[in-house]
Amino acid sequence: MKAPLLTLALCALPLAATANPFAKGDVKAGEKLHKELCQSCHAGRFGGDGSKIYTRADRRVKSAEGLKQQIAACNSMLGTQLFPEDEANLGANLNARYYKFK
Ligand code: HEC
Repeated sequence: MKAPLLTLALCALPLAATANPFAKGDVKAGEKLHKELCQSCHAGRFGGDGSKIYTRADRRVKSAEGLKQQIAACNSMLGTQLFPEDEANLGANLNARYYKFK
């Protein structure tokens, strides 16, 4: 009885370790929101299309959790009143394009 359970548990481990932390977010919807709300300000300060803010060597966000927190902080700072789904979509988009957190 014990062996199949153990096998199951071992199989589940690698899956959990590589799960996308933004699996629930919609990358496309996040891209649209990002264009509307975020990009021009980042571009104004960092030049180009604004993506340097996410790829610079001393970028602030270091983890998936940090990315979620940064998006939530921007949302309240900017008063954009995004829904949790919007934040998840933004996170999915930024993670897929730049951060690649697992
Ligand atoms: C009014 C200008 C402005 C707007 C609008 C804005 N940001 Fe930012 N954002 C900044 C600045 C400036 C920084 C850099 C802060 C620093 O380096 O201390 C930043 C940093 C960030 C970072 C951290 C980048 C890193 O270093 O890893 C993320 C993520 C981010 N913004 C997401 C967003 C999202 C998502 C939106 C749209 C909902 C948004 N920002 C809208 C100005 C803005």
